[in-house]
Amino acid sequence: MPTLDFSDRVVIVTGAGRGIGRANALLLARRGAAVVVGDLNIRTDGGGVEGDNPAAAVVAEITAVGGRAVACEADVATEDGAHALVDAAISAFGRIDAVVNNAGIVRAAPFREVPDEEYQRHLDVHYFGPMRLCRAAWPHLLKSPAPRVVNTISQAMLGNPGMAHYGGSKGALFGLTRNLALEGAEAGIKVNAIAPGASTRMLEAAADTLTPEVMEYMRAQMLPERVAPVVAYLVHPDCQVTGEVFNVAGGIVNRLALVNTAGIHDPALTVETVAEQFEKIMAITPQAVPQVVAAAQLPVS
Ligand SMILES: NC(=O)c1ccc[n+]([C@@H]2O[C@H](COP(=O)([O-])OP(=O)(O)OC[C@H]3O[C@@H](n4cnc5c(N)ncnc54)[C@H](O)[C@@H]3O)[C@@H](O)[C@H]2O)c1
Repeated sequence: MPTLDFSDRVVIVTGAGRGIGRANALLLARRGAAVVVGDLNIRTDGGGVEGDNPAAAVVAEITAVGGRAVACEADVATEDGAHALVDAAISAFGRIDAVVNNAGIVRAAPFREVPDEEYQRHLDVHYFGPMRLCRAAWPHLLKSPAPRVVNTISQAMLGNPGMAHYGGSKGALFGLTRNLALEGAEAGIKVNAIAPGASTRMLEAAADTLTPEVMEYMRAQMLPERVAPVVAYLVHPDCQVTGEVFNVAGGIVNRLALVNTAGIHDPALTVETVAEQFEKIMAITPQAVPQVVAAAQLPVS
């Protein structure tokens, strides 16, 4: 297999000052991409900025070995932030080939104890942020020969203790991923997502909910560098899938597929039919096919 090259790619990576985003930025830059390293040094719980911006340090790491990168201290949760990231890419590198929406926040808390503002904050960072950045970058992506978007969702969207606000916002990003995959299909914009697991500041914030043995395993095995190759592949022109989600953690990579079961078809449907046929409705048989996104599904206007 020839080495995959990214030397003609300009990529915006958000939340790239640390953790998974930093690993994405370093790998892409090492393979030749020009990278906009977006980060505002937001606290893990999303409650404000803390300390110096780590984006500058990542840019220094990249440029020290001859790579190309610029830092952008933008808040992805705002419209201004989206435009600042796009402007940074265009003024430094003149184009945008890919957007990696990675910035994220989390604070575990029981459903009923989370105030509206915190639901909103999670939506602002995880849903409105990627949506606004994609919207601002879209005209530039349309000019790229192989435009790509990678969103960072989470297994928490499928249910995790104390994560209704976080998981719900990631579920919204999953829906956006599928719909943008459809919107972008005709123009060749491939939009996919990863659900990562990595030992980062975010994981450390959840350390008291896990056993010391699990934390020890995660710190040793679940390195952000074991997530970045999947993100890089999804950014590469060779990658032809769209609307897909990949679980990525510690070297494990698998596809998260949505299936429609064969179910039943009964125009005379009653409550009793549903009760009687429930096993059939639930059964995952060989006829249960993954829901894929394809250009042919675009509505005719
Ligand atoms: N670490 C995991 O196991 C895990 C699991 C599932 C999903 N994720 C997701 O992966 C992504 C990266 O997480 P991580 O573990 O590397 O976290 P991290 O806390 O190490 O890094 C996240 C970065 O995002 C930045 N950020 C947050 N809000 C921002 C904003 N409004 N504007 C600009 N920058 C902002 C932070 O400053 C930080 O540098 C997140 O979207 C997270 O939800 C991580």
